[in-house]
Amino acid sequence: ADFDTVIHGGTIATADYLAKGDVGIKDGRIVAVAEHLSGGDQRIDAGGRIVMPGGIEAHAHIAQESSSGVMTADDYLSGSISAAFGGNSSFIPFAAQQRGQSVDDVLATYDARGARSVIDYSYHLIISDPRPEVLTDELPRAFQRGVTSFKVFMTYDLMNLGDGGMLDILTVARDHGAITMVHAENNDMVKWMNKRLAARGLTAPKYHAISRPQLAEEEAINRAIQLAKLVDAPLFIVHVSTEGGAEIVRREKFNGAKIYAETCPQYLALTRNDLDRPGMEGAKYICSPPLRGTDTQEALWHHVAHGTFESVSSDHAPYRADETGKFLNGFDVPYPKIANGMPGIAMRLPYLFSEGVVKGRITPEQFVALSSTNAAKTFGCATKGRIAPGMDADIAIWNPETTRTVRQQDQHDNMDYSPFEGMQITGVPEVVLNRGAKIVQDGVLKAAEGQGRFFARQPVDLRGKPGFKVPEFNPAQNFGADLR
Ligand code: URP
Ligand code: ZN
Ligand code: ZN
Ligand code: ZN
Repeated sequence: ADFDTVIHGGTIATADYLAKGDVGIKDGRIVAVAEHLSGGDQRIDAGGRIVMPGGIEAHAHIAQESSSGVMTADDYLSGSISAAFGGNSSFIPFAAQQRGQSVDDVLATYDARGARSVIDYSYHLIISDPRPEVLTDELPRAFQRGVTSFKVFMTYDLMNLGDGGMLDILTVARDHGAITMVHAENNDMVKWMNKRLAARGLTAPKYHAISRPQLAEEEAINRAIQLAKLVDAPLFIVHVSTEGGAEIVRREKFNGAKIYAETCPQYLALTRNDLDRPGMEGAKYICSPPLRGTDTQEALWHHVAHGTFESVSSDHAPYRADETGKFLNGFDVPYPKIANGMPGIAMRLPYLFSEGVVKGRITPEQFVALSSTNAAKTFGCATKGRIAPGMDADIAIWNPETTRTVRQQDQHDNMDYSPFEGMQITGVPEVVLNRGAKIVQDGVLKAAEGQGRFFARQPVDLRGKPGFKVPEFNPAQNFGADLR
């Protein structure tokens, strides 16, 4: 047959347009997009449905030890299943280097973990130890095998690199066409706040939010961007949680710095009041950067709608509310001893669709860009994120009208709570395909363990990013190639 599968009669949504039409799939690839296609061994009726590129989750912690050594509740099997139920066809979790570890060992470890995935996967490499051989040999080797994004931390004592370490990473990444991602919070501000709060006995979960002020994020975002500008390197700011941070990103990117950024549903949906729930319930809402106020929610929605952010990502960091996760250090502990992070990989797209598209804050085209197409461009996923001939048949078919109440058991993860529990959500991904294979259909998992494949990624797509030349330090012009 001409096609293995034809998705027929839906509204095809891309980052640029909506159009009624059919999608023809052969050997895992999209081979035709037309007003009507006949044939196909299998025909999927998409009448009344929206046919869009499968989500690409670009920020998730899966089978990863946290900065304080707690293993996430989700591995590549449960994490990928939850992602698939949330409309994702692929994801890019983190492979995290512990200090002293070689990058080759890190990637071998995550190759073994990733082999269980039901959807295609790649990794961003977290670097905590940029020793000379890491910079000169190990990162270039990682890049060679298609790991084209590195992540660094400005906070957490065991992760944070200092400004010099960041400049080293930014420069190596730039030279190879990789992009550096950064968790931007001022470590000393946070530690100083922790000390002051502890001295007063203020250790309940709600003080977690107090301990990580908006200024700590704004200062670090600004500093990270100036570091990137000094060496004219691309930089991706993860989980922006403040209006001030978003405004710095916006100003700098439209002044020519190669800046990319994301925010996350939790900063749009929840507030610091959730940390003040009775008993230790608030621990479920501890993440970094912390939840903010309702004024921040409105401001971040404005930035989502007006182009400040390339992506909305989940930052799925699943630690159960028991002694294996949040409370590994005990149930009655001060907030600094509670694991940071919350789950939400299955909620990212349903939340963004419901509160964004259905409520008229963003267009369906923006939804596609924020959930898939921009991540593909930023992180070099050459055959993903678009519905066009030649692309992988990574497709989600959404019913835009189904309304449901969020329940933990529908997340299909290994967690014991969902921070989105009880929310009313309109719009559901009914069918999800990865390389032409149905992985989820009508609430049923169709994929087998290990069906996902690792995908090598290309350099970051810098088109439309003019770059920034610091007048007094233009390494190429003033010092010759040696200093680059
Ligand atoms: O609190 C969070 N987001 N935990 C995950 C680790 C990180 O900061 O990315
Ligand atoms: Zn048709
Ligand atoms: Zn982070
Ligand atoms: Zn994270």
